[in-house]
Amino acid sequence: MADQVLVRYDAVRSYTEQLAAPLSPEDQTVQSMPDTSPTKWHRAHVTWFFETFVLAEQEADFVPFQGKYWFLFNSYYEAVGPRYSRPMRGVISRPGSHDVGVYRRHVDDRIRELIGSLDEGSLQKVLPILELGFHHEQQHQELLLMDIKHVLSLNPLQPVYAGAPAEPGTLQELGWVEYAGGLVEIGHDGGGFSFDNELPRHQHWLSPYRLADRLVSNGEWLEFIADGGYRRPEFWLSDGWAQVQAEQWQAPLYWRESDGVWHEHTLHGTVPLDPSLPVCHVSHYEADAFATWAGKRLPTEAEWEHAALLAEATGGTDANLADTRSWHPRAAGTSGPGPRQLFGDCWEWTASAYLPYPGFRPAEGAIGEYNGKFMSSQMVLRGGCALTPPGHTRASYRNFFPPGARWPLTGVRLADGGDPR
Ligand SMILES: [Fe+2]
Repeated sequence: MADQVLVRYDAVRSYTEQLAAPLSPEDQTVQSMPDTSPTKWHRAHVTWFFETFVLAEQEADFVPFQGKYWFLFNSYYEAVGPRYSRPMRGVISRPGSHDVGVYRRHVDDRIRELIGSLDEGSLQKVLPILELGFHHEQQHQELLLMDIKHVLSLNPLQPVYAGAPAEPGTLQELGWVEYAGGLVEIGHDGGGFSFDNELPRHQHWLSPYRLADRLVSNGEWLEFIADGGYRRPEFWLSDGWAQVQAEQWQAPLYWRESDGVWHEHTLHGTVPLDPSLPVCHVSHYEADAFATWAGKRLPTEAEWEHAALLAEATGGTDANLADTRSWHPRAAGTSGPGPRQLFGDCWEWTASAYLPYPGFRPAEGAIGEYNGKFMSSQMVLRGGCALTPPGHTRASYRNFFPPGARWPLTGVRLADGGDPR
């Protein structure tokens, strides 16, 4: 058992370092806006998580690596103590990226020693928090890539993170998949890991509905723009229209028009827009406005989850996750009986506000702050994206962002019919 846990620990921890490897110390220090964090902060914060919630709880004579690191690398846990201002993370030049590596290796050594020293019963007790630490670090692996994409987008040298863009794809005509609905079960079934916000599993009524069999494409988004999508308030929620005007939105976040040709900033650099690829880096407001323009709507999270469960039960789904190293959504593959691109490519905005499931109870103590306290003013996204580590997607997984957020790798799937309430 201990050997398996150690293998898992090393795999998760080393993958974070692999993701940071192409980035210089200077790259890793920049914070491009309050919502993003420097790469080295992500690397340190996930380490702090293991130090705080595992080592400090389990080591009899625990002493932190550096007391001040608890102030610098605590993200939002009030119960753990005060913390450094989030929007100011980019002004912290020390510890540098090298020193963060020293911190990581120090905590790794102590975690390995701890795991090796525990008897089977004690290890079973520590396993849930270790497992949470693994999934927490995977969340930050995805965020690290989303954040550095934003950092690099502001550099006129148009830097490349890694790789090269895929060959232009061929877009399949959009089709629809029908669902009878009825009384369904939603939420995690208790087998394997889940975050607390996926619980408890509960019954939910769904009227018959349809889901688009692929994500909305860049080409379709160009039609929305050409039809005045960003100039016509009738498509927009009031808060969304206010943000369109305040921030002068005219296209998705990373689109730039140059001499009449649209280009897109990607982790491969800035490239001509491929109309066959899924549109990405749009807010919930834009996704909702597009759906209204198209005469459709966004799926609810229950509709999405029911469809994903059926897809998993009938042969699985294609998934463009981080292990493909595409670092970008790909064109939908050939059509099959069910929806494509459910897992991977782009996180899919739903019409559902991020709220507790009936009977939700956050965990006791500081770790109870992980999800529950954010259940206000955010929308649920489902599926995963091209930056999500494999093993980090589930039909019941509930991601969430504020409705105006555009820097996450988000996209749009349309829904139709049913009763969206
Ligand atoms: Fe975190």
